[in-house]
Amino acid sequence: MKATVLQSMNQQINAELYSSYLYLSMAAWANSKGYKGIANWLQIQSKEEYAHAMKFYAYVEERNHTPELFAIEKPESSWNGIVHMFEQVYAHEQKITALINNLYTLSLKEEEHATSSFLKWFIDEQVEEEATVCAIIDEIKLAGEVGPGMYMIDKELAQRVFVDPTTTAE
Ligand SMILES: [Fe+2]
Ligand SMILES: [Fe+2]
Repeated sequence: MKATVLQSMNQQINAELYSSYLYLSMAAWANSKGYKGIANWLQIQSKEEYAHAMKFYAYVEERNHTPELFAIEKPESSWNGIVHMFEQVYAHEQKITALINNLYTLSLKEEEHATSSFLKWFIDEQVEEEATVCAIIDEIKLAGEVGPGMYMIDKELAQRVFVDPTTTAE
């Protein structure tokens, strides 16, 4: 891989690990506020982000390079309510989408065809990630942050189980 592409791939490993860390921090906060189901959903989201990081990591190795790990930034630890927190999830996913798009553009510019092909999975994944979070925000806004509607949503998000997204659906 060209040095510029490799550097960006290593930075993306860090960005995915930061996502994992951010969602774990959100899980801890949600749990402390009594939103056990949302905390479960966020813990699983955190695991998914770790799996994303590992998908980049494995690809770097497959291309015969050594992944380089950078310091992970300290995430925020409190939010102004559950809607605010999910809006931050959405904003963060949009940032990640932009990073993936930039990486894809770079791979095209550098004529790194294998890397362009590899990145397509992430382009599709980001569409799903943004849509899922938008749907949750809509539901919570309809239900309100407290009360029976929120109780139902929390119960629903408690049902989520971890399925490694990188080993299913191609
Ligand atoms: Fe991710
Ligand atoms: Fe994500």
